[in-house]
Amino acid sequence: MSNIDSIRHVRGESLFIDDVTLPEGVLYGYVYYSPIAHGKIQKLDFSSALKSEGVRGIFSAKDIPGENQIGGIVPDENLFAEDTVHFIGHPIAVVVADSLIHARDAVKKIKGEFKKLPATFDPRQAAKKNELIIPPRTFEIGNVDQAWGNCDYIVEDSVESGGQEHLYLETQGSVAIPIEGGGIKIISATQGPTAVQRTAARVLALPMHKVEVDVARLGGGFGGKEDQATPWAVMAALAAYKLNVAVKLILPRQEDIRLTGKRHPYSSDFKVGLNKEGKILAYQATFYQNAGAAADLSPAILDRTLFHCTNSYFVPNVRATALSCRTNLPPFTAFRGFGGPQGMFVIESAIYKAAQIMGVDPSVIQKKNLLIEGDEFPYGQKVVQPHAKKCFYEIETRFSKNEIYRKVKEFNSENKLVKKGVAVMPVCFGISFTTTFLNQASALVHIYTDGSVTISTAAVEMGQGVNAKLRIIAAKSLSISEKRIKIDSTNTSRISNTSPTAASKGADLNGFAIINACKILTERLRHVAAEELKAGASSQIEIKDEVIYHNGEKTDLTFDQLIQTAYRNRISITAQAHHSTPDIYFDTKTNKGKPFAYHVYGTAIIEVTLDCLRGTYQFDSVKVVHDFGGSIDKVVDLGQTEGGIAQGIGWMTMEELIWNDEGKLLTDALSTYKVPDVHFVPKEIRVHFLENVPNPFGPLNSKAVGEPPFMYGIGAYFALLNAMRAFKPDLKINFSAPLTPEKVLLSLYS
Ligand code: MTE
Ligand code: HPA
Ligand code: MOS
Repeated sequence: MSNIDSIRHVRGESLFIDDVTLPEGVLYGYVYYSPIAHGKIQKLDFSSALKSEGVRGIFSAKDIPGENQIGGIVPDENLFAEDTVHFIGHPIAVVVADSLIHARDAVKKIKGEFKKLPATFDPRQAAKKNELIIPPRTFEIGNVDQAWGNCDYIVEDSVESGGQEHLYLETQGSVAIPIEGGGIKIISATQGPTAVQRTAARVLALPMHKVEVDVARLGGGFGGKEDQATPWAVMAALAAYKLNVAVKLILPRQEDIRLTGKRHPYSSDFKVGLNKEGKILAYQATFYQNAGAAADLSPAILDRTLFHCTNSYFVPNVRATALSCRTNLPPFTAFRGFGGPQGMFVIESAIYKAAQIMGVDPSVIQKKNLLIEGDEFPYGQKVVQPHAKKCFYEIETRFSKNEIYRKVKEFNSENKLVKKGVAVMPVCFGISFTTTFLNQASALVHIYTDGSVTISTAAVEMGQGVNAKLRIIAAKSLSISEKRIKIDSTNTSRISNTSPTAASKGADLNGFAIINACKILTERLRHVAAEELKAGASSQIEIKDEVIYHNGEKTDLTFDQLIQTAYRNRISITAQAHHSTPDIYFDTKTNKGKPFAYHVYGTAIIEVTLDCLRGTYQFDSVKVVHDFGGSIDKVVDLGQTEGGIAQGIGWMTMEELIWNDEGKLLTDALSTYKVPDVHFVPKEIRVHFLENVPNPFGPLNSKAVGEPPFMYGIGAYFALLNAMRAFKPDLKINFSAPLTPEKVLLSLYS
C-alpha cells in the first residue's frame, strides 16, 4: 500500500507539529487546569510560579485582549475559566517558559483555591435539571401514536453507548509565530484551519487577515481536531502575541486524554412495533446525549443522531427526540460518524430485541425493512439509489451468509466452552455537512512555466488519503501525469473561509473545486492551442495525456510547450474556483428537507469466537459489501474501510472510559484505556466493492468513504451477544456498550 506520504512517513521525513523548525528564542507552553469538576475559583496565586526557573509569562482570562470566547455553534465556552470551573481539565492559564520541563515545573507551583459546587455527570440527571445545551429536537414522520394499534409485537428497552478517545498518534499541538505588523502565524494540527483563524482573531481582537493558519498534515484527527485543536492553538497565539516571541504548545499524551473531548456517550430509550411478517411499523426513540460542559459541536452531532436513527430501514411512523445534556465533563466532540453510530446502535438493539421475541434471527427483520427507491427518511429526503438491498443481497450470495450461519451453529453444537457468534450490519450514511452552508470549498491551481502544478484546497490530510485522491482528480482533470502535481499545505492565506475537513466530505468538496479550477485552465489552454495551431475553434482542441489533439488527430504540440506558449502570450496559468453542493437544503423549523447530496450504503457480516471461561474474544472475520461509487483510489478506500471497521469494533467492545465519582477520568493512559491493536483486529477483513454503481453526485463518480465503514463495528456487538447466548441461552441482555471481556465474563456467570 503506498500513497503520497508513504515513503516520507516510513523514512520519518514527514513533518508534524513537533518537527517544525523553530525560530530562535521559542518558548514552550504548558496548561494549568481545574482539578475539580465544578466550582468557584476563590484564589489564584501565580507568584511562585512566575519566579520559577525559565518562566517568561503566565496568561489567564484577564490577559485576553479580545473576547474570552471560543464556542463555535453556541457562545458558551471560555478559552480560560473566569470565576467558575466546569470540568476537571478546564483550562485556567497557560505558562510559558524556555523549556517544556520548566513550564511544567512552574505549573506545579501555581496555587489555586476552589469552592466545590454540585456536579452532574449523567445526561439523564442533567436533563431532569433542564441543563440542556439547546432545546430538545424531534424528527417525526407518519403517526406513531396511531401505529402502535396495528403492531403484533411491541418491545421497549434502554440502550447505553460509551464515549471513545480519539487516540490520534499526534497529540493536539501548534506553534505560533509573531509576524510583522502585529500579526500571527499559527502552524496547527487542526482539521479546521479557519476555526483556528477565526477564534484566534476573536481572542486577540485582530482582523482575520492578520492571522494565518498553516496545516501540513495531521497524525490523525478522527474528528478530535475539528473543533478541539482550536483552544491550544489560540493559547499559543495569545502567549506569542503578548511576548512577541514564538510559542510551541503540544499536549503531552496524558494531558491530551484528560483535557480534550471524546465521542459522546449516549443513554437512550426505544419502543419499536412490528407486524407478524417482521415489518417495522413504528419506532420511537429518545436520545440523551452527554454533551459535557460546553456545546462544542454537540448540536450538530445531535442532529446526525436523528438523521441516522433509522439506519438503512424504511419506517413509516417515527418519532425521535434528542436532548443535548450539559454535564461536568470535558466537552464531547466530533468522532468518526458524528452521532450517527449512537443513533444506529439503538435501532439495531431494537431489532435485536424484537427478533429475540419473535424467535427469528435479526437479519430476517433487517432484510424485510431495507430502504428502496422512493422511500422517505424521517427528515423528508427520498431514497434514490437501491444499494441498501444490493449490498445486503451480495452478502448473502458472494459471502454465503447462510453457510456462515450454518457453520457457526455446527461449531456451537460441537463446543462447550468456546462459542461462535455471527451478525449482519447494514449501514446507510448521509453525505454532506448537515450544516448546509459548510458544503462549499475552493481550490487554487498554479501551473508553473516548467509544467509543474501546485494545488491548494481546504482539505487537510490526516492519514485518510485525501491528498492522494485530490492529486488523481487534478491529474485526470488536466490530463497530465500525477508526477507533475504537488498538493500544498492547507493555508488560510491561500484558501479562505475553509470548511473543516470532516463529514467525509474532504475529497468530494475539494475535488469538485479542483475540477472547476482545472476546467477554467483547460479552457484557456485550448484557446491558446487553437491559436498556436491555427486550428480555428478551440472546441476542436483536446488535451489528452499531455499531448494536444486537433479534431481527434495528435499534433506535435506538447503540454510543456503549450504552457510556455500560454505564459509568453500573457495568458494566466493560474485558476481559482469555488464549488458548492447543489440542491441541498434543510428547514430546521419543520426538520424536513434534502440535507444530503447522496447516501453511502453497505452491509457487513461479522463472526466472533468467544472463550467462555475467560470472557475474551477474537473476531474471526468481517466481510463487507460496500458502495464506494466509482472508487477514485481503491487502496485508499480499502484502508479507510479496514481502519474504520477496527475503530468501530474498538468502540463497541474494548474501549471503555471510566470516570470516578468526582468526574476524574481514570482511563487516561494506554495502560488503562485499551484500543484495538494488531493482535485484536479481525483475522480476516474482506471488502467487496459493489460493482457498476457510478455516483453522479461525487467527483469522478466516487463516494465519500471516511466515516461510513466505522458503523460496521456495531455488528461486532451483536455477534458477541449471539456467542454469549450460545453459551447461556437465558442471558439477560442489557444493551450496554462497550462489551468488554470483563462485562462478558460477569454476565456469563451471573
Ligand atoms: N482516516 C485516518 N487515517 N485518519 C483520520 O483522522 N478521520 C476520519 C476519516 N478517516 C481519519 C480517517 C474522519 S472522522 C473523517 S470525517 C474523514 O476521514 C475526513 O476525511 P475525508 O473527508 O477526506 O474523508
Ligand atoms: N459532520 C461533521 N462535522 C460537521 C457536520 C457534519 O455533519 N456539521 C457540522 N460540522
Ligand atoms: Mo469527522 S467526525 O466528520 O471529522
